[in-house]
Amino acid sequence: MLFLGLESSCDETAVAIVEDGRRVVAQRLISQVEVHSRFGGVVPEVAARRHLEVINDLVAEVFAEAAVDPRSLAGIACTTGPGLIGTLLVGLSCAKALAWAYDVPLLSVDHIFAHVCANYIDTTLEPPFVALVVSGGHTQIMHFESYRKATIIGQTLDDASGEAYDKVARLLGLGYPGGPAVDKAAARGNPRAFRFPEGVVSGSDFSFSGLKTAVLRTVENLRGTDLPVDDLAASFQDAVNRVLFRKTIAVARSKGVSKVVLAGGVAANSDLRKRFESLADIEFYRPAPALCTDNAVMVAAAAFYSGEPVPLSVSAYSRQR
Ligand code: KG4
Ligand code: ZN
Repeated sequence: MLFLGLESSCDETAVAIVEDGRRVVAQRLISQVEVHSRFGGVVPEVAARRHLEVINDLVAEVFAEAAVDPRSLAGIACTTGPGLIGTLLVGLSCAKALAWAYDVPLLSVDHIFAHVCANYIDTTLEPPFVALVVSGGHTQIMHFESYRKATIIGQTLDDASGEAYDKVARLLGLGYPGGPAVDKAAARGNPRAFRFPEGVVSGSDFSFSGLKTAVLRTVENLRGTDLPVDDLAASFQDAVNRVLFRKTIAVARSKGVSKVVLAGGVAANSDLRKRFESLADIEFYRPAPALCTDNAVMVAAAAFYSGEPVPLSVSAYSRQR
C-alpha cells in the first residue's frame, strides 16, 4: 500500500510516498532555516507563505519520481497538528484538494505519532516500546502498547528540550537553529566544566527552565571574559541528556519493556544517541538524523500505522490532544 504524506507543521515543507509504512519510494523537502535565521526563530506568517509557494511543485516532483498513478494511492495523509495553525492549513488544503481531485481517502496524522513512526523506516520495529519524543515543541515519554495506542507517562512542565537547546544556543551566540550548533560545540567541550542542575521534578516529568536560567546566570557572571562556549555547551547538553536518558530508561524498566525509541529533532543529537547505544539489555531504535527533524516520510509511514480517515471538512489543531 502506497501513501502520500504532506508535512507543513512548522518550517519544513515536505512531501513523500512510503510503501507499507516501511519503505521510502520518493521524497522532497525544503527547509526554511535560511528564511527565518535572521529573525532568530520561525515567523509563522512568513513560514505559511513560503509553504504555499513550494508545496505544489514538491508534490509534482514526488509523483514524477515515484511514477505512480495518484488514483492508485491507498490514501493522502497530512499532519493536522499540533503545530502552527497557519502553516498546517497550507499542507491540509493541498492534501484535501489532491484527495478530492483523485478520489482517494484523506487521512489525518498527528505530528507526535509521525515523529515516532520515523522509526519504522527500514526496520522491523513493532510495539510495545517506550518512546522519548524530544522536539522544539514537545518533550515526553510515551508508552506505545500498540501502533495506535500510546500513553504519556511523563512530560516537561515548562520548556521543551529543543526549545532549551535553541535558547541556550542564542545565549552562547551560536545562532539558529540552536540544537545542531550546540551539538557541534559540545563535541569540542568538557561536559564537566560546569555543573548545571538537572531540574528538580520527581517521577517521569521534566523541567528545563531552571537549567536555562542557570546557564544564563553563569554566562552573566563570565561577562567580560573570553566565554568558554564549547565547555558551556557541553555542560548544558550533559545536564539535559543525562535526565532524558535516566528517566526514559527508568520508565522502560518499570513497564518491563525491552525496546526504546527516540523521536523528534533532538533525537538527532549525537551525545543523546550515544547514551542509549551503550545499553546492553535494551533494544534501541532511532531514525536516521534526516528523519529526526520534521519530514514527510514519517507522515506517510504514520498514515499506514495510525492515520485516521477524515472528511474533507476536517480542521487543523495547534495544541496536542
Ligand atoms: O522535530 P523538530 O524538527 O520540530 C518540532 O516539531 O519542533 O525539532 C526541532 C528541534 C529544534 O529545537 C532543534 O534545535 C532541535 O530539534 N535539534 C537538535 C539537534 N537537531 C535538531 N537538538 C539537539 N541536537 C541536535 N543535533
Ligand atoms: Zn516536529
